[in-house]
Amino acid sequence: MRRKLIAGNWKMNGSLAANAALLAGIKAELAQPACDVVVCAPAPYLAQCKAELTGSPIVWGAQDMSVHEFGAYTGEVSTAMLLDFGCKYVIIGHSERRAYHGESNELVARKTARALSAGLTPIVCVGETLAEREAGQTDAVVGQQINAVLETLDASALAKIVVAYEPVWAIGTGKTATPQLAQEVHAVLRAKLATKNPMAADNVKILYGGSMNPDNAKELLAMPDIDGGLIGGAALKAEDFLTIIQVA
Ligand code: PGA
Repeated sequence: MRRKLIAGNWKMNGSLAANAALLAGIKAELAQPACDVVVCAPAPYLAQCKAELTGSPIVWGAQDMSVHEFGAYTGEVSTAMLLDFGCKYVIIGHSERRAYHGESNELVARKTARALSAGLTPIVCVGETLAEREAGQTDAVVGQQINAVLETLDASALAKIVVAYEPVWAIGTGKTATPQLAQEVHAVLRAKLATKNPMAADNVKILYGGSMNPDNAKELLAMPDIDGGLIGGAALKAEDFLTIIQVA
């Protein structure tokens, strides 16, 4: 049985004061969560996460990282830096990175490999746009996205990744995929993973992301292949985030 994972993606939101209140609110209610919980904060606040969350059941991670190990890459953050600040997870290939920063399937695959070699757990994001869904290309698009990653991984490394299915049209829009529709894509993704390593595919967590909130989390998380959530907007309010964790 896969333990559920609820991951908050703060995106480019927060401040020292707001984060302190949010983390205190979450920590106060989470002595022993029945699922794994991670918050993915902007890089400047990872030190704050480390200070506030060390010793709690909540772990923290980053929203992106450099594909390079170190050196002359102005503005980039390396895996070693993330490890220095106690990160366990890193989101890779979020659709906002793909759309606004030109991240290709190939770059996402290389970043995934880099994260794994550093000992970080990559949360690899895939998802189709509305136009792609309407053109009936969903399975093909997410298939290409996940295959690019699978091609660069050893079969044994598969067990160490987390996948997040985030339909682009559902992110931040309030339009959630129906549980059935999300489940269909999760099943497609798990079948793809199984072509690489059938045993490991059963254990890989596949998160759903895209306007998951306290009202729709229960139905989504009840689906057999939905193993948690990657939560944007609802992760910025302690109460909402906690409700989703409780549901999980
Ligand atoms: P949302 O974002 O929950 O605000 O839709 C999810 C995400 O982009 O990870």
